[in-house]
Amino acid sequence: MAWTRKDLLGLESLSREEIELILSTAESFKEVSTREIKKVPALRGKTVVNLFYEPSTRTRVSFEVAAKRLSADVINISPETSSVRKGETLVDTGRNIQALKADIIVVRHASSGAAAMLSRHLDISVVNAGDGWHEHPTQALLDIFTLKEKIGRIKGINVTIVGDIAHSRVARSNIWGLTKLGANVTLCAPKMLIPVGIEEMGVNITDNIDDALVRADAVNVLRMQFERDESAAFPEALDYFRKFGITSERLNKAKKNIILMHPGPINRGIEIESDVADGPNSVILEQVINGIALRMAVLFLVSQGHDKKYEDIN
Ligand code: CP
Repeated sequence: MAWTRKDLLGLESLSREEIELILSTAESFKEVSTREIKKVPALRGKTVVNLFYEPSTRTRVSFEVAAKRLSADVINISPETSSVRKGETLVDTGRNIQALKADIIVVRHASSGAAAMLSRHLDISVVNAGDGWHEHPTQALLDIFTLKEKIGRIKGINVTIVGDIAHSRVARSNIWGLTKLGANVTLCAPKMLIPVGIEEMGVNITDNIDDALVRADAVNVLRMQFERDESAAFPEALDYFRKFGITSERLNKAKKNIILMHPGPINRGIEIESDVADGPNSVILEQVINGIALRMAVLFLVSQGHDKKYEDIN
């Protein structure tokens, strides 16, 4: 199939075939990073702007590396050093970036729906690098890519997502992507961190970590997002670790080859034991490596749908 969207805003709106196209395109780009000269000319003459309103290490650097490996020009904008500090709106900033003839904006924002709003106002491509609690599509796609690489398939596998589901855009995008591809998804968290109605997304829910791990082929461990806990209602960090932390003792009761994932940043000793994060089941840094190929695929594909408008195709 051909890619027809100008944007990547989330996995909810994508079909299984579109997700598979991104994954297979990423497979072909993965080899580029093993070459001595890690570059292809696919986006030569294009400009990618990274517009990050929230802190990021992995996603921002990964998009920059991906764009440069495709030979695009890359510009990084952060609110601290831009006219955002003088009160410029997201849409006005986006319109100015478009007027400067950029081709793709990669945006991270604290507000859910920010990427979609930007997309509605612009003709150039918008890629969502994480919007509030809503979606983080490229993180989920690289998680799924890594699972497929390790297990060989997604259909029928059991994936447990454990941690702060309530505030997690990574969880939402993973649920959309994994269920569309036929995986069985179990969410495990304290009841207060499970959003009401999330079972309608076709997932199992438990607050018993040992039950959640016993049949899992993979466990994706999420960070406790204490900074989003405005009401200070979260379980204390040590209590959370005792009840839900991924420890070697817990992992020893799971399948021997269980795949351990984490989107990062890791809070060692809070959601995961340090030795487990660095242990033989961990693919955390492989996820980071795969993020480059995956984001190369996304930038390449959205640039193909560049001439289409949001209303026509999203
Ligand atoms: N996984 C992830 O989004 O990490 P960053 O916040 O460092 O980009």
